[in-house]
Amino acid sequence: MQAITLLGATGSIGESTLDVIARHPDKYEVFALTGNLQIEKLAAQCLRHGAQFAVVNDAAGADKLRGLLKDSGCKTEVLFGAEALCQVASAVQVDTVMAAIVGAAGLLPTMAAVTTGKKILLANKESLVMAGDLFMRAVTASGSMLLPIDSEHNAIFQCLPADYSQPELSGISKLLLSASGGPFRGWSAQQMQGITPEQACAHPNWSMGRKISVDSATLMNKGLELIEACWLFNVSPQQVEVVVHPQSVIHSLVQYRDGSVLAQLGNPDMRTPIAHALAWPDRIESGVADLNLFEVARLDFERPDMQSFLCLQLAFDAAAAGGDAPAILNAANEIAVQAFLDGRIGFAQIPQVVDNTLSGLGISEPDSLHGVQESDQKARHHSAKYISQIEL
Ligand SMILES: NC(=O)c1ccc[n+]([C@@H]2O[C@H](COP(=O)([O-])OP(=O)(O)OC[C@H]3O[C@@H](n4cnc5c(N)ncnc54)[C@H](OP(=O)(O)O)[C@@H]3O)[C@@H](O)[C@H]2O)c1
Repeated sequence: MQAITLLGATGSIGESTLDVIARHPDKYEVFALTGNLQIEKLAAQCLRHGAQFAVVNDAAGADKLRGLLKDSGCKTEVLFGAEALCQVASAVQVDTVMAAIVGAAGLLPTMAAVTTGKKILLANKESLVMAGDLFMRAVTASGSMLLPIDSEHNAIFQCLPADYSQPELSGISKLLLSASGGPFRGWSAQQMQGITPEQACAHPNWSMGRKISVDSATLMNKGLELIEACWLFNVSPQQVEVVVHPQSVIHSLVQYRDGSVLAQLGNPDMRTPIAHALAWPDRIESGVADLNLFEVARLDFERPDMQSFLCLQLAFDAAAAGGDAPAILNAANEIAVQAFLDGRIGFAQIPQVVDNTLSGLGISEPDSLHGVQESDQKARHHSAKYISQIEL
């Protein structure tokens, strides 16, 4: 029986994870569930899945959750705050941690799970983008098992040999990272001027949280995934090629020196990579329908348009620059996306904010999580100030 802490249980990945777990009560039990604003949903999840602990961000949320659980006779113990998130991620009773908090808020609890040697199911790509070097060193030091949940990285993981620590020796020449192209594939920069948050969040193939949906629309998500892939698979940005594949059936590919290209295919449903990582190296039922190739009928591929989708180019540049450039990129993007969702800036201004922040701040080489957080805060401050000058 695997005991699981689910960081970000109330989100899109959290819900999909609970769906898979509920199909296998003989294999998985919930130790802790965490949420932020969706207290009623978290209460319902505690009741349904019998969590020992639930964590929210503040005392008011905790009081509300305690009240809801008491009325239902539920025994879940409620905690709150950043320290409590780290506690439930590192508790001795826990085998596996699903890291599915969105954004930089996921960094510390995910690191707490890594340093205590848990099996990590990594959806929170922002942890690796911000602190890739420290993160991967901590994985090696603790012997933690790291399994990617992003469908692209999970696909690559499935197509790699068991030992891929030295890609050249394994005959790997390139990782081909699939991208759907998002809802604005084929649009010019001019056409993208008046895009609304509702349009940006309506992804053609995937159902996701609002932040990652906007990131998918700007292609920043693909840029963050590029950086994530470099850390996970020990490759340089030049060894990763983004391939726009609108059907989202091939989730990514690995090209080998002998001309072979291995791909992983499936319906676009996050329960497949979640089930794969939960059960690895076994396979379990996920609830996802079988892929019907006759219905898919055709598979298309295009190069990404880096001129219209500047965020992808900015991410490639930050990956090549190294140091804290990816952390600055990530922080500026989080601030810009929130400002766009709040109606304060336009869609086309998201890359403008990120670019201004990257070029306005020098690059440093943080050697601690504290240093990474300083870079993150500096970038948030800079981008918020810039937004106040350009907002609509
Ligand atoms: N959705 C996908 O298909 C997908 C695919 C690949 C990777 N990912 C990655 O998985 C992560 C989660 O994505 P998602 O789509 O599931 O996001 P989401 O639906 O927005 O859910 C985010 C979760 O994080 C919690 N949260 C938000 N801010 C928080 C904070 N400051 N402190 C603590 N918890 C906080 C939310 O709580 P409340 O909802 O209660 O406020 C929710 O449980 C992201 O890093 C994303 O890039 C997602």
